[in-house]
Amino acid sequence: MDYLTLAMAKGRTAEQAIKLLEKAGVHFPNFEEKTRKLIFHDREMLIKLVYVKAVDVPTYVEKGAADIGIVGKDNIAEAQADIYDMMDLNFGKCRFVLAGTSDKLNDQSQKLTIATKYPVVTKEYFKQRTIPVETIKLNGSVELAPLIGLSDLIVDIVETGKTLKENGLKVIETIDAISTRLIVNKASFATKSASIHRFMNQLERALEV
Ligand code: PRP
Repeated sequence: MDYLTLAMAKGRTAEQAIKLLEKAGVHFPNFEEKTRKLIFHDREMLIKLVYVKAVDVPTYVEKGAADIGIVGKDNIAEAQADIYDMMDLNFGKCRFVLAGTSDKLNDQSQKLTIATKYPVVTKEYFKQRTIPVETIKLNGSVELAPLIGLSDLIVDIVETGKTLKENGLKVIETIDAISTRLIVNKASFATKSASIHRFMNQLERALEV
């Protein structure tokens, strides 16, 4: 049987992903969260782990460089990748929010500017609400933007709320709930059906205990 290649997101959910995989009987003996190594093998289960930036996981899976991926719904929604979103893994829970120093939503004398790491999600949200906005793409520390006049509001993810609080920002609206998901390449789902289903069954059992 061929190896299944699993793209796993680096960052805050990596430790929980590895714990869930271990519960499911998948072990990467040399794995450490802070490692600079990028590929790990479970030679018994025939699973190859590629350890990549969260934002890139949907791309690896869509292009077939990985058969399956473990990544947050925030990155899946933003990537708009042509993949199957198969399973909620029940960790990495947070939410997309619209936030700011004050509710400027009704102040529409001029077009609102929204700073975000998620311009696709942001544009879609405001399109549905028929509110014209300009988005400014940032790659981190988004909370700074409204504090120094770069944007009116932000769209970002909130987990504990600590970052918003420490910067004097408040949630104006919740846009969507987020959790970590299992995604699958469409072609692999057909060609490696048996091993992907075996892997999903193992995860399902691990989630039950
Ligand atoms: C994320 C997010 C918020 C923060 C929210 O940033 O963009 O800034 O976490 O978490 P909290 O509600 O628990 O405070 P991340 O830590 O990924 O860093 P970044 O600002 O560099 O993107």
